[in-house]
Amino acid sequence: TVPAMRRPRLDNSVRLFTQGYAWLPDKRRALGRRTVPTRLGGLPVFGIEGPEAARFLYDEDHVRRAHAIPEPVQGTLFGKGAVHTLDGHEHRVRKAMFVALLMDDDRIAPLVEGVTAAWDAAVPGWVRREQVVLFEEARVVLTRAVCDWAGVPLPEDEAPAVARDLTALVDGFATGGPRHWRARRARGRREAWLARLVDDVRSGAATTPQGSVVDVVARHRDADGEHLDPHVAAVELLNVIRPTVAISWFVAFSGHALVRWPRYRKQLAGGDPAFAEAWAHEVRRFYPFAPFIGGRAPQAVEWDGERIPAGAMVLLDLYGQDHDADLWGDPYTFRPERFLDREREIGAFELVPQGAGDPRTNHRCPGEQVTVAVLSALAVRLARLDVEVPEQDLRISLRRIPALPASGMVLRVHGTSG
Ligand code: HEM
Repeated sequence: TVPAMRRPRLDNSVRLFTQGYAWLPDKRRALGRRTVPTRLGGLPVFGIEGPEAARFLYDEDHVRRAHAIPEPVQGTLFGKGAVHTLDGHEHRVRKAMFVALLMDDDRIAPLVEGVTAAWDAAVPGWVRREQVVLFEEARVVLTRAVCDWAGVPLPEDEAPAVARDLTALVDGFATGGPRHWRARRARGRREAWLARLVDDVRSGAATTPQGSVVDVVARHRDADGEHLDPHVAAVELLNVIRPTVAISWFVAFSGHALVRWPRYRKQLAGGDPAFAEAWAHEVRRFYPFAPFIGGRAPQAVEWDGERIPAGAMVLLDLYGQDHDADLWGDPYTFRPERFLDREREIGAFELVPQGAGDPRTNHRCPGEQVTVAVLSALAVRLARLDVEVPEQDLRISLRRIPALPASGMVLRVHGTSG
């Protein structure tokens, strides 16, 4: 177990994030090294990067998650008692639930159908309005579709408020300001809402389709053989719904890419599945979203000539690795073709916007196929919209985590073409 070391506190974790996506890459450049030793409020921190570093980090002898995730991140983004914070057997048993729910093509297909149907249903409303903010519209589309797919009852008129809360959870994890407190309030509301649903499903006061996400989470037995506490069940339901709605960040980034590199619009609108998938990979690689992941060393370990003491924090620089010239050649060029031209498959430790390695056994995101499938389908639909792009602030600050085009991507939608 991790020795009783000081836990990262609010101010430390906020400092961890305030320098943004360039924090570790800048330090690497300044030091001329891949591994950067640093400190945060007395806690030694090691920023690591590259496929070998990723392999190192995902070995539980080197890095564990328990007592590693700062409270402000648990209180907003993940929830307390979440799968993200477990190690070993407990993690494996909880993770199997997510793998069964999310990594199955037969379950992903109806979600993609629901998302595209919700998008198509929303377009006429966008045409009637003077202009829309793509990020805000995408999150409502995704909220409606994922709640329906997961078996969470959602009255039509509540979707915008739920969508706002779900994106607030992501928007507020890396700051100490008002966005952070908005995220905490959103988490309080949504955990109470879903814990009630789990209670009602268990007591028979509410019904949910057999095999739905709600049904599976309500009936799941943890490593101790017990059902999840209703609050933890709500946390894990949110860990399916919240990141699915977060695909709206990548939809907004796709809108940004279509404005900056309009030559791709026609090819994307053509709907070739291989190109749409390459687009989704390049958007996930190129644009900043999850900055880094990490945990704490359970014992002293060596990495890249550094002695990492027990209890130290080890961070894998996801954004940095997705822009590593050794891996990508021209990392700052947006070029979906790079994923079509490849001579070999993408290695499990190379493209890391959602973690690395094997999601069935480690902490890698189990929602990657969902993300790629939903994003490719929506990017094609976005490319088919007949739009004007009004004057707006399209800058993306690398100092703000999570990043987004400042305007949220404002579009004037005339209809669907092509
Ligand atoms: C874990 C990113 C979408 C469910 C993660 C991790 C990252 C990530 C970086 C941590 C990996 C690690 O610690 O090793 C993203 C991004 C997404 C996304 C950028 C794009 C929107 C999704 C979706 C779902 C999902 C759509 C579910 C439908 C999860 C869960 C975990 C996770 C349950 C925890 C896994 C574990 O601790 O074992 N994700 N994710 N994510 N993600 Fe995603």
